[in-house]
Amino acid sequence: MTSLTSVSDDLTFALSNRHFSYVFGVTPEGHLENIYYGGALSDPLNAPLHYRRITRHAATIFEDSPNYSLSDMPQDYPSSGRSDYRYPAVGGVNADGNSVFSLAYVSHRTVLEKPALPDLPSARGGGSESLIVTLEDALQKLRVELIYTIWEDYGVIARSAQFENFGEGDIQLHQAFSTALVFPADAYDIQHFHGTWSREFNEERIAVPQGRFVVESARGTSSAAHSPYVALLQKGASETQGRCYGTTLVYSGNFSIQVETGEFGNIRLLAGINPTNFRWLLKAGTRFSTPEALHGFSDKGLGGLSARWHDFIRDKLSPARFKDRPRPTYINTWEAAYFDVTEEKVLALAEKAAAIGIEMLVLDDGWFEGRKDDQSALGDWRADRVRFPSGIPALAAKVKAKGLKFGIWFEPEMVSPNSQLFKAHPNWILHVPGRKPSLGRNQLTLDLSRTEVQDYLFTALDDILSCGDIDYVKWDMNRNMTEVGSGALPPNQQLETAHRYMLGLYKLLGRLTDKYPEVLFENCASGGNRFDLGMLSFMAQGWVSDMCDPIGRLPIIGGASYLFPMDVLAAYIGPSPNHQNGRISSIRTRFNAGAFCAARGVSLSEAEIDAHAAEIRDYMAFAKETAGDMLGGRFYRLKTTETETLWQYVTADEATVYLAYFHILSAPNLPFRRAYFTGLDPLADYKLEEDGEIYRGDALMQSGLPLPQVSTGQSSSKIRYMPDGDFSSHLFVFRKT
Ligand code: GLA
Repeated sequence: MTSLTSVSDDLTFALSNRHFSYVFGVTPEGHLENIYYGGALSDPLNAPLHYRRITRHAATIFEDSPNYSLSDMPQDYPSSGRSDYRYPAVGGVNADGNSVFSLAYVSHRTVLEKPALPDLPSARGGGSESLIVTLEDALQKLRVELIYTIWEDYGVIARSAQFENFGEGDIQLHQAFSTALVFPADAYDIQHFHGTWSREFNEERIAVPQGRFVVESARGTSSAAHSPYVALLQKGASETQGRCYGTTLVYSGNFSIQVETGEFGNIRLLAGINPTNFRWLLKAGTRFSTPEALHGFSDKGLGGLSARWHDFIRDKLSPARFKDRPRPTYINTWEAAYFDVTEEKVLALAEKAAAIGIEMLVLDDGWFEGRKDDQSALGDWRADRVRFPSGIPALAAKVKAKGLKFGIWFEPEMVSPNSQLFKAHPNWILHVPGRKPSLGRNQLTLDLSRTEVQDYLFTALDDILSCGDIDYVKWDMNRNMTEVGSGALPPNQQLETAHRYMLGLYKLLGRLTDKYPEVLFENCASGGNRFDLGMLSFMAQGWVSDMCDPIGRLPIIGGASYLFPMDVLAAYIGPSPNHQNGRISSIRTRFNAGAFCAARGVSLSEAEIDAHAAEIRDYMAFAKETAGDMLGGRFYRLKTTETETLWQYVTADEATVYLAYFHILSAPNLPFRRAYFTGLDPLADYKLEEDGEIYRGDALMQSGLPLPQVSTGQSSSKIRYMPDGDFSSHLFVFRKT
């Protein structure tokens, strides 16, 4: 491996591979200056500086350098109080009671083994180099180690900051961002994703404004309201062209990603823990680690950037042991029966599922003691004796005897006021003195910062998982946090609770996934209320949304796909009329919307299965047969308009190409449109399975495939030439010959 990091004698640092170069250096005054971030340079140490020392009539702290002002300088990790008026990466109150910090370069080192972050998940090293730059505030005795990691094969850089108080007085950290980037003055757009329950991952693109643009969460989860992802796009960037810079966090709690245009046009990006309601008491002699931030880059547009993220997340973040394991097709009891589950019903559903070729049964909410609706019992993780008389291990064994795998739902972080757990430990919830805790979905949040809570939950789940017949766990979390305080912390550390909660959650997840490496965990938080790389580093897949109407789910999968590979997504055929938006749609379109998600299944009542048994059997057979294809491939968003969505998926071995076409509203005499493929072998021939026609790769890419007016699958009209209603779709399969 050629060296990925280099350092010049005058302390310019470069991290460079074939995808990008990132260059920064130490100014004569000792500050870290960002020099360049973008496409790979052949000689990165000689990148021209983008900061020019000219008089800006700004305050300067250096008498010898009157033209040097922090108000304009592109700093790689800015602090506060010394002539830089932009939002700082690090700030707080020092032992003297003021908020002036000044960090200067002290040393650096390069290591081949990526340093692990204490108590926090982070991307895996290997084929990587990490440059660690140490800065110090000599007066306030604050040391900051900035870790920069680059991998040989990926277009992603990881950053984090480690704080150490090496003085005698305490420091209160208010801002402790993981990273700061600087972009030279130019025209950029911001791409970000917002939403709510059942409408996650709506894309918005806006011009970078003057002032500060912030997406953040203060809900205790990374949240569906603003996903922890922001991309800066060169003005005019498209799916295939333009420089695109994405930033995300390996973190699942309160985050903030900010984009600030300074008075001289430079753009600063910060990402890390949300400073609102956050304080960390950095006592003398202690350390604090920020979560890891990831920056992805491509000069080949948003599609290029997605490809960089997908490769990286699959190989370096998602649990390695599931990387190449095809996901089983499954039936989930939730939309089939909601809370009305009994052993008898589950076994009947299992029977039915086995008959139509489904491979796993997932018992969702409603199985534990006293849980008849969402009013009670969270926390009491024992099977309800009346409805599940044999208990979970025996049920799992019975389901397995029918040839299915068995999965089960938990919502471990929660407790119902009406539960034995709450009665025994009322102090185990997040709360503040003197205030009645707010309820969310009739439940309270356990204080996972407490070790005894972590231990209780570990034992409760271990009791069930240890039977050895559980193949899958759906880990849910169904409310936002309020009255965030801990009975275990003193008043001056209460604002550490939300972050300590995350550390506790990660610890618990680490213990469980270490003990049960074969169990497939799925991340869920009312759908996508915590769909982030922190959770996905423990769990190989996620339930991105409760929206199961296919037309409602399309933009959610499309939005999530900017960052996440299909490998981590799950989708099922839900009921029609749909329970979230009332839409009626065909089984065909319900399947096709999730056709490229690695995990596919159904959540249907016995009656609805009976009504469509043959069709569902065919789709589940197709899902089983193609399960391996949906891992490791390339996903392309060919077209997204109000009336049409066109997605292409090329398998990792490039032997099969799928095209999914959705036509939202029907109309007569529509123009015949074309699908312009991408990423094919121009000289290879591709055979369309349904009619055996052969197309040359270059023709599919240049001339395009004429698209049919597609079918919902509900009438007998000829698939390719007659529209037969709204919400129609067609899935094409091409094999390379
Ligand atoms: C959340 C999840 C659903 C389901 C229910 C059960 O809403 O997102 O998929 O598991 O909880 O209560």
